[in-house]
Amino acid sequence: MNTYKIAASILSADFACLGKEVESVLDAGADIIHFDVMDNHFVPNLTIGPMVCQALRHYCPKAILDVHLMIEPVDALIPAFAKAGANMISFHPQATPDVQATIDLIHQHNCQAGLVINPDIAVDVIKDVIDCLELVVLMSVYPGFGGQQFIPETLDKIQQARHLIADRDIPIEVDGGIKVDNIVEVAKAGADIFVAGSAIFNTDDYKRTIDSMRLALTKSR
Ligand code: DX5
Ligand code: ZN
Repeated sequence: MNTYKIAASILSADFACLGKEVESVLDAGADIIHFDVMDNHFVPNLTIGPMVCQALRHYCPKAILDVHLMIEPVDALIPAFAKAGANMISFHPQATPDVQATIDLIHQHNCQAGLVINPDIAVDVIKDVIDCLELVVLMSVYPGFGGQQFIPETLDKIQQARHLIADRDIPIEVDGGIKVDNIVEVAKAGADIFVAGSAIFNTDDYKRTIDSMRLALTKSR
């Protein structure tokens, strides 16, 4: 039986006290900290870079930091994020001229590599590199902003990805618009890791929200 993981996206956290927010959400039971990096070029928004990653790594030494790069080009910043303490680094295939070389670069820096598939990109994009990946990320919104609506067509794509992954030990992470109300259908489609930003950080009680997500997942088994 697979273990579901909740990845809290700090995009919706209070940036004025980011360390405390990360500490609180970990105490509330989040398994992973999802770190959204945007460059105002690959996506319209602009967020945080390796210096903030390093500060969080020092503040929360045990946190699993899942860095989602929405930047182009990607290669130049991979060593910087690895040095800053990232555990997982995911990127979009259209942001690099050589997907395999970017995966290799992530591995050379001792991080796990993930490929991120946008809503308008076919899951087949993972085919050629699947045996080199530690993570497949399906976007269930167009990247750039937190708080968007889950795109329902993602459910089919999760099933397609599950089929392509077959018996390999590669988790599927789904990113965007996940809430207590829809987490079960995302799990049933075959997801393992659930990124949730606004659904957690826009509530008063992170623990209650994460507990509700886990309870829904447990009941759905
Ligand atoms: C979107 C980001 C997501 C986003 C998720 O570009 O990659 O990680 O922060 O936020 P919610 O859960 O609010 O959709
Ligand atoms: Zn993300």
